[in-house]
Amino acid sequence: MVAVLVLGAGGYIGSAVAKEFARKGYKTYGLTRKADKASALAVDGVIPIVGDLGQPEGWKKQAQEALIWVNAAIDYADPKPAQTAFAELSAIAAAAPGKHVILQTSGAWAFGNNPLPAPAHNEFSPYANQGLAWRFDIDNGYLNNKNWRGVVVIPPSIYGGSSSLIGHGLLSQVVNGTEFKLASFDDGNQYVPLVHIDDLADAYVKAAESDYHGRLVVSEGNYVYRNIIEAAFATEGKKGTIHAAPPAKGDFGGFGVSLNLRLDNTVARTKLGWYPRHHFVRSLPSTLAAYKAHAAAKKA
Ligand SMILES: NC(=O)c1ccc[n+]([C@@H]2O[C@H](COP(=O)([O-])OP(=O)(O)OC[C@H]3O[C@@H](n4cnc5c(N)ncnc54)[C@H](OP(=O)(O)O)[C@@H]3O)[C@@H](O)[C@H]2O)c1
Repeated sequence: MVAVLVLGAGGYIGSAVAKEFARKGYKTYGLTRKADKASALAVDGVIPIVGDLGQPEGWKKQAQEALIWVNAAIDYADPKPAQTAFAELSAIAAAAPGKHVILQTSGAWAFGNNPLPAPAHNEFSPYANQGLAWRFDIDNGYLNNKNWRGVVVIPPSIYGGSSSLIGHGLLSQVVNGTEFKLASFDDGNQYVPLVHIDDLADAYVKAAESDYHGRLVVSEGNYVYRNIIEAAFATEGKKGTIHAAPPAKGDFGGFGVSLNLRLDNTVARTKLGWYPRHHFVRSLPSTLAAYKAHAAAKKA
């Protein structure tokens, strides 16, 4: 039985990906620092490892056993754990070249644009603004190491499941009011690509099972943000008003969704045979119901 190690298995993406590998019959290890998340993983058939990304002695044995590695861990404030994990996996792969596949999780907000003049664009880019340029060095390291097959997965904003930026940023405003504050440089007419968490998890498994190497955009499609907010209000049976204004400096999520961004999923479709089973607007009734249930459970 092929073993998989998921780093960041307590997270939104990592837990969904770990569960999907387990569901498909892989012996799946999942690293988390938290005991409660470890129990939740075990319930879904993932073998939990309680440990830290930056302390590989806690997960090295499982990394040596696994042929498939997934990295969905991130500490935005500290690059060191990610760099340490990269060094550890590199050393294991150097001792057994050509055996491993690594699926590194990146993000789409490095791409796209907004109508600010060029010098300001850098300043206002979500990653540059947050001092996160280091994560792209790590992505490139995973892509360029010849001792493994590297896939850098690029998800856009994600919806569905327990929590998501779309949950916090879009659904919460629609559920809790009628005056929608929308970060935008274009009166809410920017394109925002989306993917459902289950379709994303499916793409990780398909990428592991393929021979694809390279960057992998996993997006179901591009939506005009204003249109999907209106669709969400309509699903709730409400008449909402949208107030569009540029995001404040330092508003990472606001800058992310204000980028006018379109992603092409042709590579995922042609190289992996992946196709999205969800459509954001068609899924709104269940997505809104799930959001409300999770919000209520959090409050209780
Ligand atoms: N969510 C989105 O909409 C989205 C969209 C595109 C790209 N992405 C990217 O996808 C990646 C994962 O995002 P996410 O939304 O799943 O984030 P998340 O829910 O915050 O999960 C990240 C996980 O990283 C783990 N982690 C952080 N530091 C660690 C350490 N030192 N040792 C062990 N684990 C550590 C945490 O695990 P524990 O607390 O369980 O230990 C946490 O659960 C990020 O790189 C993000 O930028 C996310």
